[in-house]
Amino acid sequence: MADDVAEVRRRIDIVDLVGQRVTLKKAGKNWRGLCPFHNDRNPSFNVSQELGRYNCWSCGAKGDVFNWVMETQQVDFAEALRILAKQAGVTLSGRGEAKDKSRDERLEAAMADAQSFFVKQLQASDEAKKYIADRGIPTDVVAHWELGFGPGGDLLARQLQKQGHQLAECKEVFLVDKDPSGGYYDRFRHRLMFPIRDERGRLVAFGGRIIGAGEPKYINSSDTPLYSKSRVLYGLDKAKHTLAKTRTGILVEGYLDAIACHRAGVTGAVATLGTAMAEDHVRLIKKWCDRVVMLYDSDSAGQKAAERAADLLQAAGIGVRVAMMPQGEDPDTLLKTQGPAAVEKAVDAAMPAVEFRLWLLRQRVAVREDEFWTGAYAALATATDELEIERYAHELAGEYPGTKDRLAAKQAIKRQVASLRRGGSPTRTHRPGKVGAARAKTGLTGPEEAVFRAMLSPSTKQDAWQALGEAGLFVTGAAEDAAVSLRQTHQGQPPDGPAADWVPSLPEGPALDLMSSLFMDESAPTGSAVLADALARLRSLREERAAHEIVAKSGDLDDDALRDFHSRMQRLKDAETEENQGY
Ligand code: GTP
Ligand code: MN
Repeated sequence: MADDVAEVRRRIDIVDLVGQRVTLKKAGKNWRGLCPFHNDRNPSFNVSQELGRYNCWSCGAKGDVFNWVMETQQVDFAEALRILAKQAGVTLSGRGEAKDKSRDERLEAAMADAQSFFVKQLQASDEAKKYIADRGIPTDVVAHWELGFGPGGDLLARQLQKQGHQLAECKEVFLVDKDPSGGYYDRFRHRLMFPIRDERGRLVAFGGRIIGAGEPKYINSSDTPLYSKSRVLYGLDKAKHTLAKTRTGILVEGYLDAIACHRAGVTGAVATLGTAMAEDHVRLIKKWCDRVVMLYDSDSAGQKAAERAADLLQAAGIGVRVAMMPQGEDPDTLLKTQGPAAVEKAVDAAMPAVEFRLWLLRQRVAVREDEFWTGAYAALATATDELEIERYAHELAGEYPGTKDRLAAKQAIKRQVASLRRGGSPTRTHRPGKVGAARAKTGLTGPEEAVFRAMLSPSTKQDAWQALGEAGLFVTGAAEDAAVSLRQTHQGQPPDGPAADWVPSLPEGPALDLMSSLFMDESAPTGSAVLADALARLRSLREERAAHEIVAKSGDLDDDALRDFHSRMQRLKDAETEENQGY
């Protein structure tokens, strides 16, 4: 019982709980709002995330999560415990509750049993233990992060069944899958298992890394009734105590990177879960952080991901710095080869987002190109304040083409930046992520939306369906996810019949969310010309990206590659002059 109370207290976030009833604003380390217990004119009600307590300066009401429920719902302690335990997914001991568990409780119980199974299997597997040892992960770290081993076959399926779980329900939480003959087999086979907990510590998903070589390297739970991958950050349950004090998050890409950071003393580290940064992540980050430092891989995929994440985070008013990992390293390898100080050093050496964008631009385009300058204006436009713009405009003015008058150059740069910041339609920046960035609703760019919207009308459905399968067409992770999920659901064939029939029957996930919101928004233009135009834009952006990759590698360009590059750029320029600026 005492354990249950402690566990519930650990898992329930008081700011979340109180926030369901009182509008809270961050004030220093605490959250503040109007006191619900007296007639409050000025916000005098304070909630501390760190302490897990509230306190009214004016009427003296105070307490923890249990008091809150007792006061606001007029119940006794036992009832408050029951209510909160349910919310937190804690099964109370010493009660005969097993009989009528809700579905969520059953799913959570299956997850918990799977977790114990994975932990036991790790102890039993010399191969898995050797893999962990070879990667330099000590036993206390294995225990702290609750790592396990999924052996595969149908060992887990059989175990779950023995424990009284419905395998059909276990399938819903991505633990097992059904084979064509109707039997169930384990989803995670021969994998090192990472339990994924949400910010309150509830076990909601798993990630599994193949032991040794093999494809795919990682398998992560898909979205399930317990889990939405863009609402969870790996490690947040552990990082939140640090974040409550520092408000500075460290953002990394991999499970082992988050673990490595914590081991190196960088305990504010969290990871996105094998998925691009999404609006929901940003909301979650904003709740815990005022600033973030991104430690992404320095390969071109990592740079692109960092740039895109920075876009979203900066747009939400979060201060962003980006650390460049040494070539080929990630925080995990850095810790292993160079020790904890190297990880800390990388964090400290992070550059402000604007500087990062300019740095990227220099890797990709020569300063004498027009494109460099459109990119530079766009980069400066993301600055947090005028002072920062002033500083970079001053620096760049020395390189401004065609003028020796540095002051005039600086003014010219600042004018362009100011016009971008006013939201004036810029000449297209070379950063694809920015196209149509105003459409935050779906997280897609305008042309991407147009392709998906074309799925909704019979005349364009077939062409749109083809486009959804085109490699590298989409820029945003949201569009890629939705395309993959649509194509998987309707294997090989575009969905049959009117959209009003097939859209609602999509499985829960990115495709359903996107298609329904497009379906309900009737304001946008449709038709085959709109689709053709959108496709032309997306294809030319893809060319552009390919061209940048050539430039990034230009150290070893031969004549053919250079000619290829120039012809791509020429085609792009041609396309751009013809382009209608409808988005
Ligand atoms: P290690 O090679 O084990 O050190 O992993 P890593 O984290 O360094 O790998 P990488 O940088 O390639 O990937 C970063 C993160 O992306 C991983 O932690 C996963 O969450 C995710 N990821 C990587 N590969 C895959 C994959 O094949 N499928 C899925 N779904 N996610 C992946
Ligand atoms: Mn790694």
